[in-house]
Amino acid sequence: MPIKKVMVIGAGQMGAGIAQVTAQAGFEVLLNDMNEAALEKGMNNMNKLLTRAAEKERITENEKEQTLGRLTASSALEDAKDCDLVIEAIVENMEVKTKVFRELDEIAPAHAILATNTSSLPITEIAAATNRPEQVIGMHFMNPVPVMKLVEVIRGIQTSDETYEAIAGMTEDLNKTSVEVADFPGFAANRILMPMINEAIYTVYEGVASPEDIDTVMKLGMNHPMGPLTLADFIGLDTCLYIMEVLYEGFGDSKYRPCPLLRKYVKAGWLGKKSGRGFYEYN
Ligand code: NAI
Repeated sequence: MPIKKVMVIGAGQMGAGIAQVTAQAGFEVLLNDMNEAALEKGMNNMNKLLTRAAEKERITENEKEQTLGRLTASSALEDAKDCDLVIEAIVENMEVKTKVFRELDEIAPAHAILATNTSSLPITEIAAATNRPEQVIGMHFMNPVPVMKLVEVIRGIQTSDETYEAIAGMTEDLNKTSVEVADFPGFAANRILMPMINEAIYTVYEGVASPEDIDTVMKLGMNHPMGPLTLADFIGLDTCLYIMEVLYEGFGDSKYRPCPLLRKYVKAGWLGKKSGRGFYEYN
C-alpha cells in the first residue's frame, strides 16, 4: 500500500525536522508529542524554518503554505489509527521506545510500517516488542534533518524486503540518499565517526596536540568541514560517551573503550556547546 499519511512521534530536535521534510515532500503529516509545550515548540520551529526558507527564496510562499497545510499537531497516539507509516523520534531509551511500539502495534493499521530514528538501540529488539517485526525498520536521519542528505536505513533481523524497499523509496521521495545498513551497534555512521572522535580525545589526553591543532589537522589535512573536537562539542559529549559505551558493550572489544578524558568532561558537566563548555568555551 502506498505511503500517504505519516505520523512522527517526538517533536524535539529530530522529530520536528523529520516532520518538516516529510510534509515538504507532499506527505500528510501528524507531529505527535505527549508534552504540549514541546509540541507547540516543534510546530513553531517548523513554521520559523519554513518562513526563513521562503524569505531567502529557497521555497515559494505557496510551497510554504502548502507544507504548513499538510502538517497537523497531535497529542494522542490513537491518531496513528489511519497512518501508513509512523516514524518514532522520542527519547533514546529502550524501555520507553518499546512501550510506544507495543501501543502503536495495537493502534496502527495492519499494513502500517513502524520506523525508529534511534541512533544506537537495536532495531531487532524494538521490533520484537511488536507482532509485526517484519514491518519494523530503522530510519536514522542526521542532524539537522532539513540540511543533511543521508538516512541510514537499518534492517532488523526480521525486517522484510517489502518494508525495506518501501522505506528506501520513501527516503528518496524526501530528497535524501539512503544507505542500507545491517543492525549492528552504532550502525555504520556512528561506528565510524565516534571512534574517530574518541581517538581525537585520546590525542588531547596524551598531550600529542591541543584541541585547536587536532581540529586543524583534520580540517586542512583531511578536508573535513569541521574538526572532530568541534563536532564532538556540537553533538554533545554526553551523547558521544553514550554511543562509545554502546559500541564497547555491544562488541565487547577494548578498541572501543571511551577515553578517560571524555568521561571526566561529562562528569564535570562539560557537555559541549549546549552546556557552554566542552573542548571549547561558548558564550
Ligand atoms: P529531543 O529530546 O529533542 O526530543 C524528544 C521528544 O520526544 C521530546 O519533545 C519529548 O517530549 C518527546 N517524547 C518523549 N517520550 C514521548 C512519548 N512517549 N510519546 C510522545 N513524545 C515523547 O530528542 P532528539 O535529539 O530529537 O532525539 C530523538 C531521537 O532521535 C533519539 O532516539 C535520538 O537518539 C535520535 N537521534 C538524535 C540525533 C541528534 O543529533 N539529536 C541524531 C540522530 C538520531
